[in-house]
Amino acid sequence: MANIIEKPETITPRPNLPDYDETYRTFEWKNAYDQVAWDDRGRLNAAESAVDRHARSPLKHKVALYWQGADRNEEYTFLELSNLSNRFANVLTSAGIKKRDRVFIFLPRIPELYVSFLGIIKTGAIAGTMFSAFGPDGLYDRLHDSGARCLITNSSLKKRVNEIKGDLPDLEQIIVVDETDVAEGEISYPEAMKKASDTFDVAMMSPNDPAFMLYTSGTTGKPKGVVHRHLAIVQQHMTTEWVLDLHDNDIYWCTADPGWITGITYGILGPFSCGASVVVHDGRFDPDAWYSVIEQYRVTVWYSAPTAFRMLAQAKDAHKNHDLSSLRHICSVGEPLNAEIVHWGMRAFKLPIHDNFWQTETGGILIANYPSMPVKPGWMGKPTPGITAAIIDDNGIEVRRGVEGNLALKPDFPSLMLEIWKNPRKHAEYFMGDWYLTGDRAVQHEDGYYLFIGRSDDVINTSGERVGPFEVESVLIEHPAIAEAGVIGKPDALRGEIIKAFVVLGDDYEPSDDLESDVRRFVKARLAGHAYPREFEIVDALPKTRSGKIVRRMLRAKELGLPIGDVSTLE
Ligand code: WT7
Repeated sequence: MANIIEKPETITPRPNLPDYDETYRTFEWKNAYDQVAWDDRGRLNAAESAVDRHARSPLKHKVALYWQGADRNEEYTFLELSNLSNRFANVLTSAGIKKRDRVFIFLPRIPELYVSFLGIIKTGAIAGTMFSAFGPDGLYDRLHDSGARCLITNSSLKKRVNEIKGDLPDLEQIIVVDETDVAEGEISYPEAMKKASDTFDVAMMSPNDPAFMLYTSGTTGKPKGVVHRHLAIVQQHMTTEWVLDLHDNDIYWCTADPGWITGITYGILGPFSCGASVVVHDGRFDPDAWYSVIEQYRVTVWYSAPTAFRMLAQAKDAHKNHDLSSLRHICSVGEPLNAEIVHWGMRAFKLPIHDNFWQTETGGILIANYPSMPVKPGWMGKPTPGITAAIIDDNGIEVRRGVEGNLALKPDFPSLMLEIWKNPRKHAEYFMGDWYLTGDRAVQHEDGYYLFIGRSDDVINTSGERVGPFEVESVLIEHPAIAEAGVIGKPDALRGEIIKAFVVLGDDYEPSDDLESDVRRFVKARLAGHAYPREFEIVDALPKTRSGKIVRRMLRAKELGLPIGDVSTLE
């Protein structure tokens, strides 16, 4: 651990920004409540604070959303976005959607996704998002567990929904965004929107009422539904302003899809709340296309992920073919940001990439290389104002600086999840004494900066996306030839980790190339692309505890040639 304690090199911050130490020392959440919009009965609505209040302000004709699609581009002002989401809220209300009903979105990054997300929240219903790469199994888990009453999708994604619709008794309505001639029991978005009024009486909610939810992976069990409350907008607003340094004269690009929390908090709610113009690029990763987005929209603030920056760094001189001079601030989240990538960023963009840390469950940034602090390449940064972080041992006792332990937080910040949907036991597992546990291991340096060490469980982080080994194993064993499966994350220079599957074949099956390609096809059809194991290995047996649990750490140790550790509880 000696290398961690050394004084690392830092990159000096820009001058004239709010002082970190002073803000951290004096800040209290209640002093930030007036940054969002409340009624005189102490109620708020996250969508109202994000968009509607700007539609009533001098910003109303400012572009809120610049959308770049494959063959056309569109722009929506704050007023237009407010009116369209009002219309959609009316569509839902006419369809019988009430407060707390779950309404899910299964769409690519098209304007209707943003309109419907805001519209759902305005009705007081709970908006759920799903990444458009999900296959039928991923969809079923989410729609079934949440008991979603309504789903918004398009004609091509609808085919995957149709495969499972019969097993979803709660799913009463499907709204199709690109069809006027819809099937029985479906609603045509274009038709319904045309008829709906663009005024809507936004449901003002209690701070702790749920606003949106999304599913994330743990070590065991199916993905769990993380529910966030309307009050989270306070922290989403403040961290967008402080950490992303976003203001109402910025053009901002967040590369994350709203199927993940980053695409919601810092792709929709936070940036709109700060009055910034948000750029949405509905396309796949490609260095030239990405740099063209920055160039074309004159993007000033850019939020992306280490895996994307690593792929851009591999594209060598691609940045030199574009005018990227509009950029003034760059941030990164999702997995450890390698120091060499920060240095590459300095060369390519003349700007440091600011790493920050948070989780689906925390709804907003917790630890960051704050814009006014020196950037310490390789380190996550310091707790943002209003956040108390600590490193604790397995008994919940704080350890000395420089010692590795569990990264924990005081659970007293507005964007911490409200609950795990219908699963209070899972929710309780996150807490120990006065602390919320992140499930991550970290070290705090003498100077206060935190360094990420790794997960304390088997959760895999591939290209910044969280994958539970259990979900992948469950799909693998659905294949008739596979008797058992154990799945691990294997370190990878580009993706952080890749997924490797160890499988045991059933008695009647022999390993062959045909079998392997059949398994690959099978898994690919059922799991979202990122959850697909890039490596397979057929083994005779899996290491297990006496109680029959697969010991993934042994699979990992074997794979990496590491010491196997304590085996006293093994079979
Ligand atoms: C997990 C949360 C909300 C951000 C997107 C991911 C890892 C996140 C960092 C970072 C090292 C990081 C942690 C965390 N992680 N940011 N800056 N450095 N690791 O959200 O899918 O809920 O994943 O991602 O392991 O617990 P998520």
